[in-house]
Amino acid sequence: MEFVRNTNIFNNSSCLLNFKGKYGGKDADIIYLENSVVKKFKNGRENEFRTEKDVLELLTKEGYEHSPKIIKTGMEDGRFFIEMTNEGETLFEYLLKSTNNQINLAIEKIKEAIIELARLNIMHDDLTIENILVSADKNGNPDKVTLIDFSWIKKTTVNDPFELANKMISRKFLMQFIEQFVHK
Ligand SMILES: Nc1ncnc2c1ncn2[C@@H]1O[C@H](COP(=O)(O)OP(=O)(O)OP(=O)(O)O)[C@@H](O)[C@H]1O
Ligand SMILES: [Mg+2]
Repeated sequence: MEFVRNTNIFNNSSCLLNFKGKYGGKDADIIYLENSVVKKFKNGRENEFRTEKDVLELLTKEGYEHSPKIIKTGMEDGRFFIEMTNEGETLFEYLLKSTNNQINLAIEKIKEAIIELARLNIMHDDLTIENILVSADKNGNPDKVTLIDFSWIKKTTVNDPFELANKMISRKFLMQFIEQFVHK
């Protein structure tokens, strides 16, 4: 089953998310190494590479705990890449196997991640179930939530981080997708 997502708060761009979990990102190829992942940007995507690199460096400097840490950046075979810490599976994969209670716990952690980001006046403008990673503890409860894909970030003054988080989680945006995994 395929569906179109349109979760962008500030503009109306939409793209396809394949529900079978097969990754077909529009901007990058991902290579999985032992403890890290390498995101290779498509040719002509230098701006996205620079934005993502700058944002990840800033977030690390600010002590933000919900983003991957950069291991190495550079260019290989004419393509820019960022090697970063592997932060676990996507929220999409997590939702497939989680209980309602675990889903609610994950939502609370996602809210925290959005609020802390907003406190740095940064807004993730493409928050989807494939741009949120979850690592679970041994009971399958969400241990840590990480936001990824910062290549389209918005630096903006956020007056009310809580209001922003509620809006981004709401049915109009993230919740409409999460809801499809909630057990009736
Ligand atoms: N640090 C990471 N740890 C684990 N998995 C990751 C990490 N970064 C990326 N991934 C995996 O690679 C996928 C694509 O990464 P990312 O969203 O950054 O690239 P993209 O091509 O820009 O995607 P999009 O098409 O959504 O813009 C993610 O959905 C996730 O499955
Ligand atoms: Mg993505």
